[in-house]
Amino acid sequence: MSGVLSKQFEGYAGKSSMVRKMFEAGIKLKQQYGADKVCDFSIGNPDLPPPAEVKTAMLEIAEHALEPFAFGYMPNAGFPWLREMMAAELTKEQGTTVTADDVMFSGGAAGAMNALFRCILDPGDEILVSKPYFVEYGFYVENFGGNLKTVATKPDFNLDLAALEQAIGAKTRAVMVNSPNNPTGQIYPKEDLEKLAAILRKKSAEFGRPIILISDEPYRFLAFDGAVVPSVLPLYEYSVVLGSFAKNLSLPGERIGYLVATHNMPEKEKFMSSVIMASRIIGHVNAPIVGQKLLKHVLGKQVDLAVYAERRNAMAKVLTDAGIEFTMPKGAFYFFPLAPGGDDAAFCDELTKNLVLGVQGSAFGMPGYFRLAFCHSVDVIRRSADGFKKARAAFK
Ligand SMILES: Cc1ncc(COP(=O)(O)O)c(C=O)c1O
Repeated sequence: MSGVLSKQFEGYAGKSSMVRKMFEAGIKLKQQYGADKVCDFSIGNPDLPPPAEVKTAMLEIAEHALEPFAFGYMPNAGFPWLREMMAAELTKEQGTTVTADDVMFSGGAAGAMNALFRCILDPGDEILVSKPYFVEYGFYVENFGGNLKTVATKPDFNLDLAALEQAIGAKTRAVMVNSPNNPTGQIYPKEDLEKLAAILRKKSAEFGRPIILISDEPYRFLAFDGAVVPSVLPLYEYSVVLGSFAKNLSLPGERIGYLVATHNMPEKEKFMSSVIMASRIIGHVNAPIVGQKLLKHVLGKQVDLAVYAERRNAMAKVLTDAGIEFTMPKGAFYFFPLAPGGDDAAFCDELTKNLVLGVQGSAFGMPGYFRLAFCHSVDVIRRSADGFKKARAAFK
């Protein structure tokens, strides 16, 4: 007799995310050795409190909690007044016209991505992404019978445009970029995105079907040293941006995010009504209502970026002192250093022995490196210095 699972899920059995595994290993180590002894840089779960306005907004939501329909069903794309507010905010942020009908609220950026893939993928279609990449992408693409095709980046983690162009074929439905990048912290320059747009126009014409440019931007707000994160919306008519309030407002568990399409995308109405329908029929129905009501008060606010900047410097010092090579991240809250000795799994094991948790680069499609999430206090980062030095010494 065969098992209860689909063939696909039988195959997934050993494949659950290494990030999650490390996160769970961290919880066990903390129970065993004490929370103050373990430096857990495995998961990007922001520890900063949300902006103070979130509390005021929650109190107001509570004040009206017993009114009829306070938590009622709503239009699948979100409250119409919130879509208006968001469009005004995005017009400033993205430097181009965005109107309410270009926007859909979703269950996080992840929910928006699944709805998008639901309505653009036929079985066997491909989504192209540069390595290393956020590991969940592969699962989301496979949810709808698609294949995630990966292409190497340049040594500094910038897009390898020639490699991307070569990888585009008749089955390519979209190229996805993530900037600031998880796990590398790279921010792609505008010139590269313009060149990518030109490649996509050329390839769309060649294959007789528009290829979408997806920009996954949960870390847009977090750019260091005045770095600018260019918007793809003004650069390419078939652009779709996915955003999130998980990191800028420290609300990852509330699952609130959004999708926005280029205002003048050909067939935009059909596209937006399809993505809204997709969100409904994959069971999201609408983005969480509490999160939407919160946004009324906190749209445009964010956590204190100076805290992340200080942590980035602290982590850079710890790694430098340990003799570990890395490229300084321009944005987001991750380092993606070279694994001493070259074997990322072996190095992460050695780190774990020293009660420091990182995630092997293989989990992001790039062996030989490892990822550290620096959404932890400067104290924790400094405390990890000894562990890094000892692990490094083991690979001398
Ligand atoms: C690159 C990237 N994309 C998407 C997501 C998912 O964001 P959300 O929690 O809003 O679904 C994450 C979360 O860590 C991420 O790092």
